[in-house]
Amino acid sequence: MPTAYRSALLYSLEDPAKVGRAASYRYLEDGLLLVEDGLIHACGPADELLASLPPGTLVQHWPEGLIVPGFIDTHIHYPQTGMIGAAGEQLLDWLTRYTYPAEQRFADYAYAERVARLFIAELLRNGTTTAQVFASVHPESVEAFFTVAAELNLRMLCGKVLMDRNAPPELCDSADSGYAQSRALIERWHGHGRLGYAVTPRFAGSCSSEQLRRAAQLLEEFPSVRLHTHLAENRAEIAWIESLFPDCDSYLDIYARHGLLGPRSLFAHAIHLDEHDCQRLGQCGAAVAFCPTSNLFLGSGLFDLARAERLQLKVGIGSDIGAGTSFSLLHTLGEAYKVEQLQGRSLDPFKALYLATLGGARALGMEGQVGSLAPGHEADFVVLDVQATPLLRFRLEECQDLAERLAVLLTLGDDRVVQETFVAGVSRHRREG
Ligand code: GUN
Ligand code: ZN
Repeated sequence: MPTAYRSALLYSLEDPAKVGRAASYRYLEDGLLLVEDGLIHACGPADELLASLPPGTLVQHWPEGLIVPGFIDTHIHYPQTGMIGAAGEQLLDWLTRYTYPAEQRFADYAYAERVARLFIAELLRNGTTTAQVFASVHPESVEAFFTVAAELNLRMLCGKVLMDRNAPPELCDSADSGYAQSRALIERWHGHGRLGYAVTPRFAGSCSSEQLRRAAQLLEEFPSVRLHTHLAENRAEIAWIESLFPDCDSYLDIYARHGLLGPRSLFAHAIHLDEHDCQRLGQCGAAVAFCPTSNLFLGSGLFDLARAERLQLKVGIGSDIGAGTSFSLLHTLGEAYKVEQLQGRSLDPFKALYLATLGGARALGMEGQVGSLAPGHEADFVVLDVQATPLLRFRLEECQDLAERLAVLLTLGDDRVVQETFVAGVSRHRREG
């Protein structure tokens, strides 16, 4: 049975940096989304579409709502849900003091499943319907995550972390066991429903040369599997990692020489790169995740979005929980705005929308599937209640146009404005009240 959803509708058509703001989005003040079998069948003005709906179509109407595509979080760690806000350190000491102890608990399937349920519920509460997710080194952690994601028919990417050195022995695999466990997980889960696998070497600092080579072997053997890792996040990290691979020209060159740099790769952070490496990322079609709350919380640095645009990198937004401080991509984009301000620029609100939707889909190789409300896409969407708080209601009254309203929503919005989250046409979260 088809279902129709009536509300204001907004989605990105293209990167505003490429086509300018006006051509970058579609907005329908009174729009209708027609959904059947989990897919969007039609999207247009309500007055045109209502007349031709198949008989018996149920119409849900939010006169004050705003429907946008489900948000896409291109970089997040689910085992770090219980350690958000672990303060006092920068990256390498933060990993040792907080992260590695927290991740050791994910050897236990029951614990991992409990956290996976809470984590996914939190994503949905925040309007995030797709994420690329680090699990822990334990295959059980991936098993738990995919089991819960499959129950809800979510489009998700996840992978077992590969780390065979420079970490506590309880968290280390080996080049061989990491390869074999990843392979078994790929065979079991990749392409199962809407799930996909990302080969996940933690970062070059925790992987031997042999382990990086075996990761590349998996990419060769499974041509639709993706690569997910970290790159050039923190200055001390970079100096240390470059010292581990003296034959490589740079941090990025380590991944390149081991066969891990390509159009299926996404690198989180990519802050401290020279022009040559940034160019190299653009030329090979790799993607990066801009993780503003994490970069601010750990004091890692400021991501250069303008350069990424100039060199045509694919860019998505990442919460990077637990170094990141919010599951809300609205809040995360509000922080991205401030990171841009610190570099003398301001983030266009339509670019922000693009980063969290279509840009994220492109960064994860999911264009045409998610990140848009155009017909043919999977019906992952969010109903926002833009008047969720007294302050928002008051502030939005003052706005002159859609751009201003969107900018305010990114500054003041968070999980409170997410009224309902739909996954493949099924409601998976409804805000109480
Ligand atoms: N680099 C290697 N591992 C991690 C991690 O867990 N979080 C962040 N932010 N950076 C990393
Ligand atoms: Zn991370």
